[in-house]
Amino acid sequence: MKLSLKMKKALNDQIGLEANASNSYLAMASWCEVTGYEGAASYFYAQSDEERTHMLKIVHYLNDMGGPATIPATGTPSSSYKSLETLIKTALKNEQLVTKAIHKMVEISQKDKDHSTYAFLEWFVNEQVQEETKFETLLQKFDLIGRDKLAINEIDKLLATQTTAEEPTA
Ligand code: FEO
Repeated sequence: MKLSLKMKKALNDQIGLEANASNSYLAMASWCEVTGYEGAASYFYAQSDEERTHMLKIVHYLNDMGGPATIPATGTPSSSYKSLETLIKTALKNEQLVTKAIHKMVEISQKDKDHSTYAFLEWFVNEQVQEETKFETLLQKFDLIGRDKLAINEIDKLLATQTTAEEPTA
């Protein structure tokens, strides 16, 4: 079955969102690295790689479905942050935007009776629940553990332990 023009455009736009997310997490990782947050740096480097795999999933799907996928330019991500907490808040906001866009695509696929894309998007719907929960849980840590230097160090260590444990399963 052929993708509708609307679906094709939405999937192509999503390639841009995932590419921007990858770039933005790369910038966050780099900021963490130079700021001395080793755990957070490795966490966000991995997160950046993960977003690239999301982007690739969509590129391949679009091409398999007659595409073509178009690779967009990406914006320049912010290169500095007030604090690790601000950085994670920005990450959560970004994921919330991505979730909205994915839900929009699900609605388009339902309207189009496009079962292939609907099934393809299911993985992304679940992934977004995990990603948002991940950042929300991390943000709670600042309330629970604190915001002084020792507390931030604890949170940074926690991020180091989560770097590989959070890899996507699909
Ligand atoms: Fe691929 Fe984190 O959205």
